Amino acid sequence: MAEELMEKIVSLAKRRGFIYPGSEIYGGFSGFWDYGPLGVELKNNIKQLWWRMFVQDRDDMCGLDAAIVMNPEAWKASGHVAGFADPLESGKMFNTMLTTSVGAGEEATTAYFRPETAGGIFVNFKNVVDSFHPKLPFGIGQVGKAFRNEISPRDFIFRAREFEQMEIEYFIRPEEWERWFEHWREQVGRYIALLGISEDRIHELEVPDGERAHYSKRTIDFEFDFPFGRKELYGLAYRGDFDLSAHGKASGQDLSYLDEATKERFIPHVIEPSFGVDRTILALLASAYTEDELGGEPRTYLKFNKSVAPIKAAVFPLLKNKPELVKKAREIYAMLKKVQPRIMWDDNGNIGKRYRRQDEIGTPACITIDFQTLEDDTVTVRDRDTGVQTREKVEDLSATVR
Ligand code: GAP
Repeated sequence: MAEELMEKIVSLAKRRGFIYPGSEIYGGFSGFWDYGPLGVELKNNIKQLWWRMFVQDRDDMCGLDAAIVMNPEAWKASGHVAGFADPLESGKMFNTMLTTSVGAGEEATTAYFRPETAGGIFVNFKNVVDSFHPKLPFGIGQVGKAFRNEISPRDFIFRAREFEQMEIEYFIRPEEWERWFEHWREQVGRYIALLGISEDRIHELEVPDGERAHYSKRTIDFEFDFPFGRKELYGLAYRGDFDLSAHGKASGQDLSYLDEATKERFIPHVIEPSFGVDRTILALLASAYTEDELGGEPRTYLKFNKSVAPIKAAVFPLLKNKPELVKKAREIYAMLKKVQPRIMWDDNGNIGKRYRRQDEIGTPACITIDFQTLEDDTVTVRDRDTGVQTREKVEDLSATVR
């Protein structure tokens, strides 16, 4: 049953241009996935909502876009060279950082593709403090690729070797960690609600001693009921001063913070909410995937929130061989496209088929231009979830689409 559902989701994602196996014409490449035309829109919506909510709408946050390949010394200091490893079947430990070689000939050094975006934030802590003199608490957010040489990539995009993270390092006074941990716990929940991921499928797991990452003093995993089981969607960790202290020591730089008011100098502690983009997409697909019956016929549709839907509305001329209908529909399409670029044109096949195609990719509304439009400047707007059609004035459409 669950397996069948996963197969249906993977097949829809490929067929409709959300997600393709990486380098598919060469037989794919395990753990690597390519996002198609609709997948990239969905992904951008997820990242934009995150950036807006956590970086732009807050006065205590700023953004960063650090290099993926960092000085390898940074990964020694962070403990990843020694400890970022999973057991092989033989029981031997295997470091899962993806390596590369930088420079030519004898100058070449082994470097790592970052296994978490967090690293780039810690090494820029001093730069941001020197540029902006932010007062504690403040955070730095970053969205970007991360890489792990997973021993067995599996479950579609759930465990990939190349994936994307959206991470926050929130710097605080050590004695305030519990309060800020609670704050971010709540914020993670708010983001999940904003996306429209089924909240009854989310479960918080307190990660016990001995099972947390080497840097963490407390971790909560936000788990989601994926079709293949309850698994980690997001993480929230209290990293203490582990990273800034380690990087300060290894680099020889002073990464302490001076409180101007009290003249106190100390290493800030850190709360880290970490969000995987790809797992968000999978949780959204699993939440949105719906099979029902409409007008006596079975259908499959993606019940996406309007804010994440890759296409916001589709515009159809009722008949494609009637030039006056097509002309009018083209005008309306061009007008709406100026307000909201993610509008799709479709004049292929009958209206019923066009509705089904849009349902399957989660388009919230379909707008049809018919003969009545030519007389009274109204169109039918059909709702994805209910199939109900209403008549709306063309002049009101821009507002509806916006
Ligand atoms: N900086 C903290 C950190 O990296 P993590 O729990 O290892 O913590 C954070 O990863 C998030 O990154 C996870 O909750 C998940 O959403 C995503 N993630 C981790 N490994 C992944 C993989 N192999 N494929 C897809 N997403 C992954």
